[in-house]
Parts: sequence; structure tokens; C-alpha cells
Amino acid sequence: MEATNDMTVTEWWETAHKNQDKKWLTGSTVRSYLDFFKAYEIYAKAEIVLEIGCGMGRATQQMACNDSKDVTVMDISVIALAQIMSIARMFNSKGHMYLPTDYFDLAISHLVAQHMCDADLYAQMRSVIRSLTASGVFLLQFADAKGRPPSYTIAHEKGGGVLRTPAEVGERVEAFGGEVVETVERKINSNVTWWGLHIMRS
Ligand SMILES: C[S@@+](CC[C@H](N)C(=O)[O-])C[C@H]1O[C@@H](n2cnc3c(N)ncnc32)[C@H](O)[C@@H]1O
Repeated sequence: MEATNDMTVTEWWETAHKNQDKKWLTGSTVRSYLDFFKAYEIYAKAEIVLEIGCGMGRATQQMACNDSKDVTVMDISVIALAQIMSIARMFNSKGHMYLPTDYFDLAISHLVAQHMCDADLYAQMRSVIRSLTASGVFLLQFADAKGRPPSYTIAHEKGGGVLRTPAEVGERVEAFGGEVVETVERKINSNVTWWGLHIMRS
């Protein structure tokens, strides 16, 4: 599936889920989430978990079925949500403002932010921070790279090419009543870096 075709972002994700397109859905395990975020202890303590963007539902399955977490999935795709409906609660990402307040021990967003424009990501982040308990943690991964484009298009969203720095995202976190309590980093190659923030309510 080419990232530059003329589907909307939502249609594009629905097509990826319909085709079980591993290139775009990734299929990360819960272990790969926790390795990247260095968050094994946080995960062990969490009972109520929000997964933002479930991809093939592999980590969802592990969290809900193997680890007995109470999992809610928030995804842009109704096909993605349908695939996890027997093991987790479903939340359409367009309704992020209806997430419950003071509810989740843990929220995880991995390989999603780089597919979102600023308006969508920052509105979603505000709702997710509000939905954390006082001791809850929001694990947010995003990407940065050398040579940013002058502006972003829908093709960057589909292709995962929307880039951000920890300073840019951290500024928004504070504006939304949160604080960054830890930052992790992984160099993917000589050009691309993934960042992971541990965010709590301030
Ligand atoms: C690249 S996959 C990553 C899946 C999984 N988190 C992983 O790391 O393997 C992106 C997932 O995010 C979902 N997604 C895309 N845009 C989203 C949004 N604005 N809000 C929530 N989920 C979104 C897609 O439908 C897909 O399930």
C-alpha cells in the first residue's frame, strides 16, 4: 500500500487493517513496548490500561489475556476495534474527549504519533493526560529525524513521517496539565531517533 494514494487517513488505516498489512500495523509485542519505554515496573503495577493504536492486536492480547490487565483500546479504525472487542473495551479515537477522567493507571502510544498531525495528536494528548489517575503514567513514543520537510502532508501522516522533538512535545504536555518524568531514546539509524516520554499529571 503506497502512502501517497488519495484515500483519507482514516480510509487508509481501514484498508491496512482490512488487508492485515504487517508493514503498517507492525504487530509489536508488549515486551517490545516495555523494552523501548523501560517500563516493566510501571506495567507490573498497572491494572487499568489504555492502548492507543493497537495495530494487529498482539500486545492487546498479551496484556488482556496473559497478564489479566483491564484493557481499553483507542484506535482510528473500526476494523481494528472489532478485532479486539472480545478481550478489551473499544474507543474510537474521534471520541477521545469522552475518555473517563482520573481512570487509567497506564496509557501507551507506540508508533502512532508519527502518523498524526499536530492538531490531532495534541487534542488526543490533552484527553489522555486528563484520563490518568494521580499515579498514572502515559508512555508516548514519537520520532525525530535529520532534514525535516518544510511542512507536512497527508502522505507524511500515512507514512509515519511526522517528526517532533522532546522539547516541542514537552511544552504541550505542560500546557495540558502534565509533566515529563522520564525520557528514553533509541537511535533507529544514522538519521532517525525514536523518543519515549513518561508523562504524569502534574
Ligand atoms: C503503526 S500501527 C502501531 C500498532 C502498535 N501500537 C505497535 O506498535 O505495533 C498504528 C496503529 O495506530 C492506529 N492509529 C492511527 N491513527 C490513530 C489515531 N489518530 N488514534 C489512535 N490510533 C490511531 C492505526 O489504526 C494502527 O492500529
